[in-house]
Amino acid sequence: MTETARQHSKTALDQVKQYHEQTKHEFNRYARSLGYLDWANQPNPFRRFDGAPLIPLPRLTLDEDPFSPAYESLFHPHSTPSQPITLKTLSRFFEYALSLTAWKEYNGTRWALRSNPSSGNLHPTEGYVFVRSLAQLALEPGLYHYAPKEHALEHRWVLPPQTAQSVLQGIPSEGFLVGLTSIHWREAWKYGERAFRYCQHDTGHAIGTLRVAAATLGWNLLVLSGTTDETIATLLGLTRQQDFQQAEREYPELLAAVWPGNLHPPPTLNLAFQNPEDTVLSAGEWKGTANRLSKEEPVPWEIIDKVTDASWKSTQENEDIVFHAPTTPTSNHEKIGPDPLAGQIIHQRRSAVAFDGRTSLSADRFFTMLQRIMPRGDLPLPDRPMPWDAIPWDPAIHLALFVHRIDGLTPGLYWLNRSPERHHLSLFRSAMHEQFVWSTPEGCPANLPLYLLEAGNAQNLARQLSCGQDIAGDSAFSLGMVAEFDESLGRYGPWFYKRLFWETGLIGQVFYLEAESAGIRSTGIGCFFDDPVHRVLGFHPQPRWQSLYHFTVGGPLDDGRLTTLPPYGPHVT
Ligand SMILES: Cc1cc2nc3c(=O)[nH]c(=O)nc-3n(C[C@H](O)[C@H](O)[C@H](O)COP(=O)(O)O)c2cc1C
Repeated sequence: MTETARQHSKTALDQVKQYHEQTKHEFNRYARSLGYLDWANQPNPFRRFDGAPLIPLPRLTLDEDPFSPAYESLFHPHSTPSQPITLKTLSRFFEYALSLTAWKEYNGTRWALRSNPSSGNLHPTEGYVFVRSLAQLALEPGLYHYAPKEHALEHRWVLPPQTAQSVLQGIPSEGFLVGLTSIHWREAWKYGERAFRYCQHDTGHAIGTLRVAAATLGWNLLVLSGTTDETIATLLGLTRQQDFQQAEREYPELLAAVWPGNLHPPPTLNLAFQNPEDTVLSAGEWKGTANRLSKEEPVPWEIIDKVTDASWKSTQENEDIVFHAPTTPTSNHEKIGPDPLAGQIIHQRRSAVAFDGRTSLSADRFFTMLQRIMPRGDLPLPDRPMPWDAIPWDPAIHLALFVHRIDGLTPGLYWLNRSPERHHLSLFRSAMHEQFVWSTPEGCPANLPLYLLEAGNAQNLARQLSCGQDIAGDSAFSLGMVAEFDESLGRYGPWFYKRLFWETGLIGQVFYLEAESAGIRSTGIGCFFDDPVHRVLGFHPQPRWQSLYHFTVGGPLDDGRLTTLPPYGPHVT
């Protein structure tokens, strides 16, 4: 790195840290926002590209081909048969990843819910797919934007087959790319300066829904983390100002490679997907112009533009991920009980709006949930458990748990160390309150690094720390996700800021699905008091670690006033 580049990177790092500081909620001061909701200017949650051909995706029932596997089978490698890539399977993929799952109605107002959750249900995340010409896929090659309200693909970039093939040459044969972008304005409309964080959480949740959707089809999915943001923006057409003239901007998040799980010989995948050459970019034809989402111009939040620039990834890291042949033949699919189906769990996933303050969870189920969020960073990436095989960086998030009602477990404050490195644990121990006991709870599996820090009723504490929200105290347990903040940003650079949030979102998505499968429910909590959480743990005034996201899991109370309507049908206009 040159001296100028180093200086630039240091300034960017300072700006990212300044953004994080400035957008903390304090007991006496919330991060800056308008302070009221400008309903007349509420952004449309559905982006469309007017003039781009719309290709409807077939709507499938759970029991039709491709049949949804059992939820449990997703966590058993090679137990789900790999499906060919067809319009039906691509439809299933988007259904489980980003489609609508219901409409809710109250007092004449209707809003849609989706497979992926979103802070404030504002849905800043947009999805794209880039495909080549495939024998069984009835789609022209090129780039498509996913339209969730229609469950359809908009053909944005029409390309000759050989050009699309050349773009995907580094991706395993048969494979395709998915892309995610964020429209910051959708979140900033309500949340002001803190909105950039929420967009990144939502991206993390969407990585989870995409990875799980791929797993139901026996496909692999890997975020191409070495890629530059410039490449992502170019490939997804975000730099085409002529197509976004009056429309609110989309910002690049990621590209991920998706490919069938039965490929042989095993591919090598480079994480740095490279910008297609100019000749490729000028090939084919771009179609459609982005719709305007709000009536008025977006309210400018300068600090969001600054952190967008400062966390922009302009470096490209080349790293090969080598996949070995499966150790168990893929034809020997494990027989896992039929219920519940993965599709049922995905469709029924909802955020709890309130908890009953009574329901408890068995310790075994609690331990299983925690095991599902262990990334197994000690294993080579392809051997890590789903969905942790989707993100190629070392895990950097740990959990501070407020245990309220787990049968057989002492209520109190706990710590889960998600890093395989034991020295991390001693670092944390020396940085936290001296009185913490660090004892292993009875019955805790040997491979789960869970520790009791302090026994006691933590319901009020959890509630207070989560902006006074009852959902953090009335549940079976809630938690804060603590990032190795300074260390990761120093090691990788300011662009890693977004990755930290993505990892928290992915953890959250696993909890969402695990809670549904345990017959209870959960909710993401983006509103919490940052530094008070650090004080509870004993971190120093300027902590090297930062809590980035909270979560809560328990017995839900339903809001009986709401009517539920199906995701698609004549009632959707
Ligand atoms: C990043 C994130 C932050 C959230 N923060 C809160 C929160 O602080 N309080 C709350 O009640 N719900 C919160 N939620 C839940 C959302 O309101 C919910 O996901 C959204 O309304 C969509 O509903 P669904 O999850 O049932 O699809 C959050 C969700 C996400 C993904």
